[in-house]
Amino acid sequence: MKIGFIGCGNMASAMIGGIINKGLYKAEEIIVSDALEESLVRAKENLGVVTTLDNKEVVEKAEIIVLSVKPQFYEIVIDQIKNVVKDEQLVITIAPGKTLGWLDEHFGKPVKLIRCMPNTPALVGEGITGICLNKLVTDAELEEAGKILNSFGSYEVVPEHLMDVVVSVSGSSPAYVFMLIEAMADAAVSDGMPRAQAYKFAAQAVLGSAKMVLETGKHPGELKDMVCSPGGTTIEAVRVLEEKGLRSGIIEAMKACTVKSRSL
Ligand SMILES: NC(=O)c1ccc[n+]([C@@H]2O[C@H](COP(=O)([O-])OP(=O)(O)OC[C@H]3O[C@@H](n4cnc5c(N)ncnc54)[C@H](OP(=O)(O)O)[C@@H]3O)[C@@H](O)[C@H]2O)c1
Repeated sequence: MKIGFIGCGNMASAMIGGIINKGLYKAEEIIVSDALEESLVRAKENLGVVTTLDNKEVVEKAEIIVLSVKPQFYEIVIDQIKNVVKDEQLVITIAPGKTLGWLDEHFGKPVKLIRCMPNTPALVGEGITGICLNKLVTDAELEEAGKILNSFGSYEVVPEHLMDVVVSVSGSSPAYVFMLIEAMADAAVSDGMPRAQAYKFAAQAVLGSAKMVLETGKHPGELKDMVCSPGGTTIEAVRVLEEKGLRSGIIEAMKACTVKSRSL
């Protein structure tokens, strides 16, 4: 087996979907375990992967292991698998707050570790994952992990102290963007637009604006200024957003998110 996932919820399913769709590994080269039999039945039906209720079997059979359970279950799972993890295996983690030092201590022996923070847009192949790694991971292993992460979006290597910032800027930020889209649609509905159409306009405007930032390389402020004609409609909205504290609201919210991540 090429890769194994311990825990088959939202994030594991998104990652596996990307891996299979991009043809990186075949479904039969992927093994997953979960605490719930129903989740495994669903994984087998939807993804066609090999399943087991035994977390240790995943480690015994897979070359790369992804720990895709919630952070509170990391300790239990690591306790179950630490004696079966082999020197040459690569362990990928996706839980906020579980540092390389914490992982090292709980495995109690040298293990090749890549700590990742993905996000849910991985479900539609548009994820971004921040990663850091320990010294045992070779360049070839990083390259292989990179192919996995690129199969559902893209990735960036960051120093470990920035992993909590990755949590707020991309791990959690889809939630703030969904709130923005919801609010934009609510305003459009309030001004008479049917709701389904309002979501389409709002979501596509966010998607297109994000693409403009990524593809033009222009400063977001310059792109904003391009929409604001003198004495026009947009600058009126910008004036009210500044008055209501949109920017400082976002900055404060994200700083709270980073602080929470550091406390986990
Ligand atoms: N969702 C996000 O936006 C996001 C973003 C970045 C990182 N992450 C991280 O990704 C990880 C997974 O998150 P998720 O949203 O995919 O969670 P999830 O949907 O709850 O999936 C976790 C799965 O693991 C199973 N599980 C629990 N204990 C287990 C055990 N001892 N052995 C095997 N399987 C077990 C759960 O089963 P039950 O249903 O029976 O509990 C569940 O199916 C978390 O560490 C999370 O912090 C999530």
